[in-house]
Amino acid sequence: DASKEGYDHFLIKEIYEQPRVLREVISIKHNNYVINLPLEGSLSLEELKNINKIYITACGTAFHAGEAGKYAIENLAKIPVISEIASEFRYKNMFVDDKSLVVFVSQSGETADTLAALRKAKAIGAKTLAITNVVGSSISREADKVVYCYAGPEISVASTKAYTTQVISLYFLAMDIALKLKEITQYQVKDIIQNMEKIPSQIEEILKHKDEFKKIANSIKDAKSIFYTGRSLDYITAKEGALKLKEISYIHTEAFPSGELKHGSIALIEEGTPVISVATQSSILEKTISNNQELLARGATVISIAEEKNKFIKDSSDVIIEIPDTIDLLTPLLAVIPEQLIAYYASVLLGNDVDKPRNLAKSVTVE
Ligand code: G6P
Repeated sequence: DASKEGYDHFLIKEIYEQPRVLREVISIKHNNYVINLPLEGSLSLEELKNINKIYITACGTAFHAGEAGKYAIENLAKIPVISEIASEFRYKNMFVDDKSLVVFVSQSGETADTLAALRKAKAIGAKTLAITNVVGSSISREADKVVYCYAGPEISVASTKAYTTQVISLYFLAMDIALKLKEITQYQVKDIIQNMEKIPSQIEEILKHKDEFKKIANSIKDAKSIFYTGRSLDYITAKEGALKLKEISYIHTEAFPSGELKHGSIALIEEGTPVISVATQSSILEKTISNNQELLARGATVISIAEEKNKFIKDSSDVIIEIPDTIDLLTPLLAVIPEQLIAYYASVLLGNDVDKPRNLAKSVTVE
């Protein structure tokens, strides 16, 4: 796994590995649609009944996966979840006790802030659960419970396959909790997993459009600033897209919740400012469309990421990136793929060190 296997960079190799890796991780986490989280990574009904508060904490891309996990736990298990950046969480008054569950998401399992937050939460008495990719890592050893992501080694500093496998792992955790608390049925679990099983081949479909993403990367690579917008789960995907692009292209990017645009950020829009609008959540699509129209009216170039079934979004976009249809919960796994490829091609076209961007490290083990 530590060779580029004919690809120009580890990043593009790892983007292309996602269909295979996701197929594997999905198949490991269920047996004939019965969730298969090993004892070390699941909470018993008794443990769950004792929990009245859930926190999720992480850094960087892992934090965005954590936020998708928060959405899944809140929507499936109906438990409120607080998500906090680890470098903030570790210095806060942690209102946790033996009735709290704190989930730590970390590809490497070694990130200093995440590890420090784990040690502090554990010392106060919280139950701790790690979502990590590295077996035997500090976080995997020190947390009470551990769920592995099975992404295989990720070499490129910018995280891609670790992110999508973290989201899958968190979704299985959310389904497991929801099912045990009888908030969802085994029938609903089967339906979600069946939709999940289509994701790897749907990613393969998206990957076939690489030339389209290269063209978009070329059209935005000289922009002063690029904005990402979205609501709800789409806002999380927007944040991950903005991070991916800024870390390897060095272009200033920012993600805004669509509804907040008019409270300040829309002042930044000039003629031709590129805005990537993540527009997948069906219950709020109308709102997204009206936000796109506001952006277009101020001269933005709106590039929408939308499901094939929602072709009408074309009317409120300059460019539309179509992703295959899925259920709302799973769109982050598809919408992130064009974002990863646009970031990759922008970085290549700008002549940057794609796998080792300036000033960044794969694993930040110092504060
Ligand atoms: C670094 C990496 C990011 C990663 C973050 C958290 O900043 O460059 O890609 O998301 O650390 O790393 P972890 O190993 O804890 O997921």
